[in-house]
Amino acid sequence: MSKKNASENKNSGDKKIPIFAPVAGIEEKKEEKVDFGRMKTGVNGLDELIPDGIPRGSSILINGSSGSGKTNLSLQILYEGVVKFNEPGIYISFEENSESIRHTAKSFGMEIEKYEKENKLAIISKDPYEVKNFATSLSGELYYKIKDMQAKRLVVDSITYLGGSLQNPYELRRLMNDLNKRLKTMGITTFFVSETPESINLVGRYGVEEFVVDGVILLHNILIKQGRQRAIEILKMRQTNHDTSMHPFKITSKGVEIYPREQIII
Ligand SMILES: Nc1ncnc2c1ncn2[C@@H]1O[C@H](COP(=O)(O)OP(=O)(O)OP(=O)(O)O)[C@@H](O)[C@H]1O
Ligand SMILES: [Mg+2]
Repeated sequence: MSKKNASENKNSGDKKIPIFAPVAGIEEKKEEKVDFGRMKTGVNGLDELIPDGIPRGSSILINGSSGSGKTNLSLQILYEGVVKFNEPGIYISFEENSESIRHTAKSFGMEIEKYEKENKLAIISKDPYEVKNFATSLSGELYYKIKDMQAKRLVVDSITYLGGSLQNPYELRRLMNDLNKRLKTMGITTFFVSETPESINLVGRYGVEEFVVDGVILLHNILIKQGRQRAIEILKMRQTNHDTSMHPFKITSKGVEIYPREQIII
């Protein structure tokens, strides 16, 4: 966008700016199919469920109910990316502040601050009032951050919060589509965290999230006789052969531990 257009937008008032408007710094490219190859998450057990790996540049939904392990799993995907593959990652949280995320990570033995100093990891928290500007101002900021760090992985925790600030599910769908396109051209793989109560038979709170993304990982917290059983399932992964069963996992002091050779049948 030219400087003139950028300043016109600035003066035209927030209401006139579509939430998916082009942003200064983001080059609007024609959608072109680029093969960025595939990636392993680095999380033990999870990669066995997706043997050929996740296509780079994909958008993946990590969906589950409250406390199902969404934050822990997505943090672990970022951290393993840095430690095992030297792939820098960015974590954007709309709910927990960055200190709380760092604290969680440290409790699992992750050396977050070390990698932050090396510019390999970034934990960014955004206040709720900034959520509305995500696709405009933040995606501009995000663009430069991704370029600066040469980030390969991004977590947005959570897309549900973002959806709550929009007028309707259609707007969320457009926003996610727009973001996905931009991030895809940069070859960064994005993990959108999304929340739904375990009792509701929906993937994504607004009923649109799962259709926009390339892949869906479901985290369940199933009520059984003995209490609750955590389970993980790959619901979809476009252009990819993947496991379709439900597998148990645990959260321990080391983080998420997935058991790909065990199955949960309900
Ligand atoms: N050290 C630990 N050992 C065992 N379990 C733990 C440990 N730390 C956290 N947990 C479990 O992880 C859960 C929280 O996981 P996480 O924060 O990833 O969930 P979430 O799905 O992101 O939740 P929310 O919906 O609140 O964002 C806790 O409720 C607890 O059951
Ligand atoms: Mg969380």
